[in-house]
Amino acid sequence: MTIALSENDKRMLDGLCGEASRMAMSIIVRMANVCGTNELMDICQAHIDGCGLMSDAGLEFAEKLAAAGGKVVVPTTLNMGPLDLQDWPKFVTDEVFASKALRQGKAYTDMGCVPTWSCAPYQGYLTPRFGQQIAWGESNAICYANSVLGARTNRYADYLDICAAITGRVPKCGLHLTENRRGQWLLKLQDFSPELLAEEVFWPVLGHLVGDMVHDKISVIEGLPKMATTDQLKAFGAAAASAGSVALFHAVGLTPEAPTREAALQDMEPEQVTDITPDDWYRAWEDLAGAHEGDKLDVVVLGCPHFSFDEFRTLTEEIRAVAPARAADGVDVALLTCQQSLSLVDRTDWLADIEAFGGRITRDTCVFHTPMIRRDADVLMTNSGKCGYYAPGTLDVKVAFGSIGDCVRSAVAGKVLRRRPG
Ligand code: F3S
Repeated sequence: MTIALSENDKRMLDGLCGEASRMAMSIIVRMANVCGTNELMDICQAHIDGCGLMSDAGLEFAEKLAAAGGKVVVPTTLNMGPLDLQDWPKFVTDEVFASKALRQGKAYTDMGCVPTWSCAPYQGYLTPRFGQQIAWGESNAICYANSVLGARTNRYADYLDICAAITGRVPKCGLHLTENRRGQWLLKLQDFSPELLAEEVFWPVLGHLVGDMVHDKISVIEGLPKMATTDQLKAFGAAAASAGSVALFHAVGLTPEAPTREAALQDMEPEQVTDITPDDWYRAWEDLAGAHEGDKLDVVVLGCPHFSFDEFRTLTEEIRAVAPARAADGVDVALLTCQQSLSLVDRTDWLADIEAFGGRITRDTCVFHTPMIRRDADVLMTNSGKCGYYAPGTLDVKVAFGSIGDCVRSAVAGKVLRRRPG
């Protein structure tokens, strides 16, 4: 298929803007063919997920682009990376791996990327606005950007993301286009009590349920509380994007493209309609847990996606509400966050209590990329639907799922304590 190119696209493709732009544009053009479109479009922001050092090839690709003069032409943030860049020896003993990770980080920042190293970029620097066309990687961030912010991105894969950032162009297709953002599957919440709707775990469990049900369909959800925090919507989207491959959902009355059911459906009939009841929700809650009440606990993981300032506040309040305010011997408490949230927390008096509790804060990275979980850990507790979904297969642990408060109380007891929500 012949792709319609602008004059600047042609200059890039002909190598007149440098070798890195030529490489990046040739990949974008190839992807347009793969996507079945003959048009490209501008983006105004990018978020790079390919900076996670998944392979030596990823490092080679980044260094090759950087050495060829690659520079991003739109504001570009970085997802979490393979290391806590300022304190990596805390968990990483493999110096070869560390040096590759540092080289990869340098290649991306040399290309002009902002070193946010966060998988919750929408809670920090350069949050995109409603209607903006962007190219984001990282499943939870994509879901949040599309659904909660109303920005428009496809699910950009590793390395395609940096090509979009260098060229400022993407194939014109998928969720960039209004007609492809129409809700397809109407989900009606029925008979949920206010108590259950108010639970912290309501959101990630519902996200797990919805993702598992709709896969990559665009859901329109009715019956949610009319107020939701960014952290609640973050937890919902991260779980939905993991259990399914949800890139966009509409929450009626909450998200910007869904002031009404009709608006979310673009005045068409839904392809499917399903009621969701509390029984469905409790089944999903059970589905997230492989560990049982009273099981010995080895590790707590909080901050997947990266902990926000407000989540640190909740954690501190929960720690201050228990006695003794420290995790039992043998229970590790891993807290994942980014530099931006931690900088704010640094200006409070919370850190002393968190550290006395046993919390080990790691910036820039994630439990699935840095070896911060003991090899002999058997039971992991988390408040994250995403971590709960991936940990059994990736870390070979049984998962207990609960609120931040449940995690704190369980860490103190040294065993899984779960309160039945609602
Ligand atoms: Fe972030 Fe890692 Fe969770 S990338 S969303 S902390 S799996």
